[in-house]
Formats: sequence, structure tokens, C-alpha cells
Amino acid sequence: QNEKHVRQFRNPSNRDSMAEEAKKLAGCAAVDNHVQNNHVVGVGSGSTIVYAVDRLAERVRQEKLNIVCVPTSFQARQLILKHGLILSDLDRHPELDVAIDGADEVDAALTLIKGGGGCLTQEKIVAGCAKHFIVIADFRKDSMALGQQWKGGVPIEVIPMSYVPVSRTIAKRFGGKAVLRMAVNKAGPVVTDNSNFILDWKFEHAQNWKVVNTAIKMIPGVVETGLFVGMAERVYFGMEDGTVSFR
Ligand code: 5RP
Repeated sequence: QNEKHVRQFRNPSNRDSMAEEAKKLAGCAAVDNHVQNNHVVGVGSGSTIVYAVDRLAERVRQEKLNIVCVPTSFQARQLILKHGLILSDLDRHPELDVAIDGADEVDAALTLIKGGGGCLTQEKIVAGCAKHFIVIADFRKDSMALGQQWKGGVPIEVIPMSYVPVSRTIAKRFGGKAVLRMAVNKAGPVVTDNSNFILDWKFEHAQNWKVVNTAIKMIPGVVETGLFVGMAERVYFGMEDGTVSFR
């Protein structure tokens, strides 16, 4: 029995398919527990949010809910439209009842690293406009300290002309290395929905994330960081055993 479990765990494809199921569980839990009729809902970005929007659309259809959605990215906008949900924006709905979004890593204090998909700036704006910011993730994102699980570093959105000086300043002041994110085909840098670049800061050790976040934001050229400090109210983790845990 034990050996079977070990084999299952070591097989990456098994772990990945468990993670997909876990994303779905987390997405459904967030929508079922936090979305009510007449809510304005912030829709995050990434692969986990896809399951939450599936569930949201299902509830809207079945329960005839009146829900308005505010997207955090082009991807989120497309998802909302694909499901025939009502699309809005912060001009019309500057105050959201709830925002639901994924994360790359969540530490014990609910500090998040976000921006693996490059949408961190709009995600932070939308989360900041929501009365409740709810995070959904699979078990692989659950961490005692940032950097223990997620090896991609902290994404930082920068104005294109500033990426070299910002990268140097970050390395000098906080250690590690801030690397320009390149497109998968390496033909050029990733360009965000706001026409900016992303630096992925591979930090070397744990820091006071609140202080570091504020300090990085003060560097000329930095638009936003993927550190979400003191923003998440609750995080739902889909677990390997088919349950959902939260904190
Ligand atoms: C995009 C994000 C995503 O929410 C984060 O990368 C998690 O993505 P996924 O649900 O695919 O693991 O911050 O900028």
C-alpha cells in the first residue's frame, strides 16, 4: 500500500493530474462560499481561475444569478466573454464585492507571489478594489516561506526602458538576480497587457516582504511587484486527497 502511494507520488504526470483536480476543487469552493446574487466579482488570471469561472457560469445559469465580472487581464476578459457573463470594468464598478484569483506561492502569513502569468499589476489593482480577496491554489503552492515551493522568483513589472537599471538596483540592494522574462521562443521579452516588461527576481533568502515590496516599488521604472502582502483574506487549497483546506 505504502509503496503504491510512493510510486504515485513520484510519478510527475500523476501529481500533475492531481493538481488539475485540486485546482478545480479550490475554484469551486471559492465561488460557492463567496459569491452571492448581485455581486460584482473580480476575475483573476491563470489556469486555476478557469475552473472558478466554469463554476461561476454554472451557478449563474442554474440559480439565475445577477453577477457582474471585472477582469484582471486579457485572458480573464476572454474567459468572461466565452461564458456569456456580464463584463464590466473599474470605471463602472470601482468597488467589487469579491475578487478571486490564483497564486504562484502562498506563505504561512498569506503573503503571495503572483505574476507567473505576467498579469500582476491588474491583478493587484482589482484585488485592492475588492471587499474580499480570495485566493485559489493547488497543494503545490502551499509554503511555509516564500521561495520554498515556487522557484520562479518574484515577478516585477517595469517600464521597458528601465529594465537594466531596475535589475541592477534590485541585485545591489536586496541580493539575488532580477532576470528579464523572455518569450517561450526567446524571440524577445514577454510584454504585459500594459505594454511593459517583467523582471523575475530570484531572491536568495527570506526577507521582510512588506518592507521589500515598498522599497522595490520606490525604484524609478517599477510599475508593480508580484508580492501581495496583507491582501488575501482567505486561501483555498485543493489537496491531493480530494479535499479542500483553507486558511
Ligand atoms: C498570473 C497569476 C496567476 O494567478 C498565477 O500565476 C497562478 O497561476 P495558475 O493558476 O496557472 O497556477 O498571478 O499573473
